[in-house]
Amino acid sequence: MIKEMFNLEGKIAMIPGGGGGIGSQLAAGLCEAGAEIAIVDRSGSAMTKTCSLVQEQGKQALSITADLTQKEDADRAVAEVVDHFGRIDIILNAIGGGAGKVLFEAQEYPEQEWDWIMDLNLTTTLLATQAAVRQMVQQGDGGRVVNISSVRGLLGINAGYSAYVAAKGAINSLTRQWATEWAKYGINVNAISPTFVDTPQVAMLLDDAEFKAKLLARVPLGRVGQPEDLLGAVLLFASDACGFITGQILTIDGGLTATQ
Ligand SMILES: NC(=O)c1ccc[n+]([C@@H]2O[C@H](COP(=O)([O-])OP(=O)(O)OC[C@H]3O[C@@H](n4cnc5c(N)ncnc54)[C@H](OP(=O)(O)O)[C@@H]3O)[C@@H](O)[C@H]2O)c1
Repeated sequence: MIKEMFNLEGKIAMIPGGGGGIGSQLAAGLCEAGAEIAIVDRSGSAMTKTCSLVQEQGKQALSITADLTQKEDADRAVAEVVDHFGRIDIILNAIGGGAGKVLFEAQEYPEQEWDWIMDLNLTTTLLATQAAVRQMVQQGDGGRVVNISSVRGLLGINAGYSAYVAAKGAINSLTRQWATEWAKYGINVNAISPTFVDTPQVAMLLDDAEFKAKLLARVPLGRVGQPEDLLGAVLLFASDACGFITGQILTIDGGLTATQ
């Protein structure tokens, strides 16, 4: 029974941001659990690595190039997944970030950078999920939405993160709102909320020895996350095992928020 609960064979997983540092590893993990994988990313080259990871498991990922800040691209991406696989069972939203690139004091936070962070983190998740869920509703047999938030959706930080914390806070709220609205369709919506995960996006910060030492001092388990650390929770939220779990935001942070 336990194996069946976590078995994703026959499930189609669409992964926006599947070419990214986290998305690529999670795509490989969901594939290992049996799912067919469709990744959507801004550039074809970003998706090459993910395709090879999936290929190593004897499967072929579908890769779709799209800018998911654009509704027509999100709708087209979903249509391409359905053309290819016939349906969508899981959407794992793995686009986002940018926090460390645009740091401004809260009272000065510029509109252009605000819009960029919102588009990158929130609009992509909104448009891709709307399109995928319309398809799930039409299929009529439920589905799973998994969002990637951040501990910054929950905690303030004494640095110029206003737009990022607002975007991730909104992802947390939408996770609860969508869970509430879409329960009647059997669509469960949950989010993971990591602290620093060792990916190219944060490599520059983690290469700074002083920054890293301060960070690790605050994490009870004494290390940053690896993309694989997110896989157990994502598998839970993508699978039948989360049948009665919806609207939850699971922090994955080596105990960081437990200390706050
Ligand atoms: N890494 C961390 O420490 C960390 C911690 C907490 C939460 N998170 C969250 O985890 C998620 C994934 O992070 P990550 O580190 O894997 O980031 P990443 O490596 O930058 O991956 C994101 C992927 O999404 C793509 N993308 C960006 N905008 C897009 C768009 N409009 N349409 C289609 N694709 C687009 C990116 O392409 P480009 O490279 O071309 O932009 C990239 O391939 C984000 O939501 C992030 O906030 C990350």
